[in-house]
Amino acid sequence: MCGIIAYRGRKKTAGNLVLTGLKKLEYRGYDSWGVAVNDGESISVCKKTGKIGELNIADLKLPRASLAMAHSRWATHGGVTQKNAHPHMSSQGKIVVIHNGIIENYLELKKKLVKKGHTFHSETDTEVATNLIEEELTLALKKARQSEVSRELLLHAVQSALAQLEGRYAFLVMAEGCDALVAARRGSPLIVGVGEKGEYFVASDIPAFRKYTEHVMYLDDEELVIIDDKGAEFIDMRTQKLLKKRIIKITWKSDDAEKGDFPHFMIKEIMEQKETIQRAINQEPRLIQRAAAMINKAFGTYFVGCGTAGKVSMVGNYLFSKIAHKHINVEFGSEFPNFRHFIKKGSLLLAISQSGETADTLEAMEVAREKGAKLMTLVNVEGSSMDRMADLSIYLNAGPEKAVASTKATTAQMTLLTLLAYACADRLDEGRKLLIETAAKINDMLNPRYEAHIRAIAKKIDKVESMYVIGRGMNYPMALEAAIKLQEVSYIHAEGFAGGELKHGPLALISKGTPCIALVANDETRAEIISNATEVKARGAYVIGVGPQNEDVFDEWIRVPDVGNASPIVTTIPVQILAYHLALLRKNNPDMPRNLAKSVTVK
Ligand code: F6R
Repeated sequence: MCGIIAYRGRKKTAGNLVLTGLKKLEYRGYDSWGVAVNDGESISVCKKTGKIGELNIADLKLPRASLAMAHSRWATHGGVTQKNAHPHMSSQGKIVVIHNGIIENYLELKKKLVKKGHTFHSETDTEVATNLIEEELTLALKKARQSEVSRELLLHAVQSALAQLEGRYAFLVMAEGCDALVAARRGSPLIVGVGEKGEYFVASDIPAFRKYTEHVMYLDDEELVIIDDKGAEFIDMRTQKLLKKRIIKITWKSDDAEKGDFPHFMIKEIMEQKETIQRAINQEPRLIQRAAAMINKAFGTYFVGCGTAGKVSMVGNYLFSKIAHKHINVEFGSEFPNFRHFIKKGSLLLAISQSGETADTLEAMEVAREKGAKLMTLVNVEGSSMDRMADLSIYLNAGPEKAVASTKATTAQMTLLTLLAYACADRLDEGRKLLIETAAKINDMLNPRYEAHIRAIAKKIDKVESMYVIGRGMNYPMALEAAIKLQEVSYIHAEGFAGGELKHGPLALISKGTPCIALVANDETRAEIISNATEVKARGAYVIGVGPQNEDVFDEWIRVPDVGNASPIVTTIPVQILAYHLALLRKNNPDMPRNLAKSVTVK
């Protein structure tokens, strides 16, 4: 969940460079930050609580050096304090570590290290790794009867320590008196950027160094890289074999990850849906057909995702039922392991994700793989863990999504699921035609007048304590998704219901003036959802209708195009805009909701 970046190269401004990169990762973790600068002799560490975005880097006056690493933290073990911020230095100051992930056996290791005389200053699990590496290094130095830390001894110490750790991690390690950088990965992403003339970056996310290079090498689980004057040497930690890595060129531009003229990433990404839906459709038809053949052949297909991607999986269920007459099992990543008994060799798991790094979805993939199932993913981040794990990946091609609240990745996922459902029914051309028309209509819909109309509605409801969203059929999961969007950026209590469920309990929540959004599709569910809207209105609700035509029951109407089976793609967009404006009216930062972070890499 945290942001990690390191630099080793020729520039002597490594400290400033990594902090500049870290600012690009602010959306990943933002309660504190820190930097370590290594000039080959000593390592200086500076860390603070607060947002890295607010830092004036020049004020820090960091020492000149060509090796540095930085981290922005999203607290898991221990509160938000300067001491708990990374990097962490070992008791004797020999080792400095940055870590993302969780060390499960840290308490047990800590006890042993305390007995050996190590002291601890933070509440983090990371400090245990830092001291364990120091312990291993001290032993190795003694054994080699030397006082200087060579790259071989550092490598040995890191590997011996990591072998004792349980859990998932990404580590960056530096040692006093040594100008090498070691990075290791098990379950948490790390990517190596290849710059000019022996210059390397290591980061948890490409935007951190995209400004400097478009060439990357991916580190896989149980792999380590050591970077020094010899270049970058990759090692398989299980076999100790050297690995040859392919340099891959990134397809998106550095500007794609910037806000441009927009005040926030969230609204920029909402507006980008004018193009991203079209980009999602522009897939190689043969890839879609191959994926559809896998689904048609599978003995049990499972759609799995978390949060918004979990709701998209539910939409997929309706789409496949309606278009392809096919049953799909749907689970949240965190719940999937409960159903492992049903997974067989012929089963298929489709992991749906923006980041490709969500720990619960990854665990579901691991469980399915152990049972011999095939793995497929709909994912935005190429080279992510899900992409690397899957037998077949379909990319969303939405470009970097930086606001914590998912918007353009969500509609790209639904677009691809619609395409896949049509392909499974052997009606791919019909599906493509529908989606191309939908993309064109969304392009017309997303204009300043449309946004202003929704903002005016937001102004009427920005003081409410609770609001509800109802939908039926394909728009039922969209009601659940709408509630997530409203909760996470406006902090208003919001809940989504299936229209038909209202009478079975939720109706009791409606009182005079309670906003209730009705998502309406012009299909077989229309009459019934209008009837549900009438039920809430009769109890005093303020009904905001999102649909292709104005209905008598609506107090407010947000028009969406009539696009048949693509209805969930269009009904979600006005709610994204509403959530965004409610956040602004309530003085919340929509890009960085409290308590949340983009890319949930911990369970
Ligand atoms: C909500 C949101 C989250 C993510 C969830 C899964 O707007 O963005 O609920 O959908 O954390 O993330 P990914 O898609 O990266 O697996």
